[in-house]
Amino acid sequence: MGQAGHARQILERITPGGRLLGIDRDPAAVQAALVALASFEPAVTVVQGRFSDLVDIAQKAGFDPADLVLFDFGISSTQLDAPERGFSFRGEGLLDMRMDQGAELTAERIVNHFDAAEIERILRTYGEERWARRIAQFIVARRPLRTTRDLAQAVEAAIPRKAWPRDIHVATRTFQGLRIAVNEELDEIEAGLKAALTILKPGGRMATISFHSLEDRMVKSFFNVESKDCICPPQQPVCTCGHRATLQIVTRRPVRPSEAEVAANPRARSARLRVAQKL
Ligand SMILES: C[S@@+](CC[C@H](N)C(=O)[O-])C[C@H]1O[C@@H](n2cnc3c(N)ncnc32)[C@H](O)[C@@H]1O
Repeated sequence: MGQAGHARQILERITPGGRLLGIDRDPAAVQAALVALASFEPAVTVVQGRFSDLVDIAQKAGFDPADLVLFDFGISSTQLDAPERGFSFRGEGLLDMRMDQGAELTAERIVNHFDAAEIERILRTYGEERWARRIAQFIVARRPLRTTRDLAQAVEAAIPRKAWPRDIHVATRTFQGLRIAVNEELDEIEAGLKAALTILKPGGRMATISFHSLEDRMVKSFFNVESKDCICPPQQPVCTCGHRATLQIVTRRPVRPSEAEVAANPRARSARLRVAQKL
């Protein structure tokens, strides 16, 4: 649901007659969407919940089966731009990074209580950060870290200035890695894609918008596996997996924003849209 931008566009096209269920794990996004979309009542239902609970939420709300499931992964501009949510190295806020502030794990807990090896793993796996080991060592040496600025300064000190990336802030990957870990984002995506497959009607479509390669790779590999009749290793002469294709890929290559769209909305620059149709 996020800031309800897609929801509004979809509702304008499917009403009257169609219905939309929006979900977000962030209660603030749910409240804002209820207000923003009030004029579409009763065609719109908004529920606080996670991708991994999609089957349950859709069944309870009367959206199983569904014609279309759209995922727009990651964090919203509202979350990113609120310093107190702790997602951004710009501005100063506590190290929170929870999309759902009812959840237990925070970024503060990871940086101040996890051991260096675990922090390194998080930054390497979820942030794809080459300097993960050094950053983890600097974080541990500077404990306790309280704010996003403390964290950004630890990263700045850990990476030699001549190795700072040119196109992104030096702390971007660290913040991404922690955020993904705090919110278990990759597990959520996997569970969400499976859930979407369960609730879609035959001929229905799922669409995903990813913002970084980890997300996009998960979708690509899910679509690849689910569009094949056999997923046995290629060297195996006879199929033993019994796997049957459930999806047909609609977008062989991900759809990327046009130059005009990026000019109008620079945050769209790394977005990748993929679509698949249920068989
Ligand atoms: C990029 S924003 C969506 C923006 C939206 N499409 C719009 O048009 O405004 C992503 C939203 O997904 C939510 N989110 C991320 N992971 C989630 C999950 N596992 N379950 C439910 N919501 C999630 C975030 O809280 C955030 O509000």
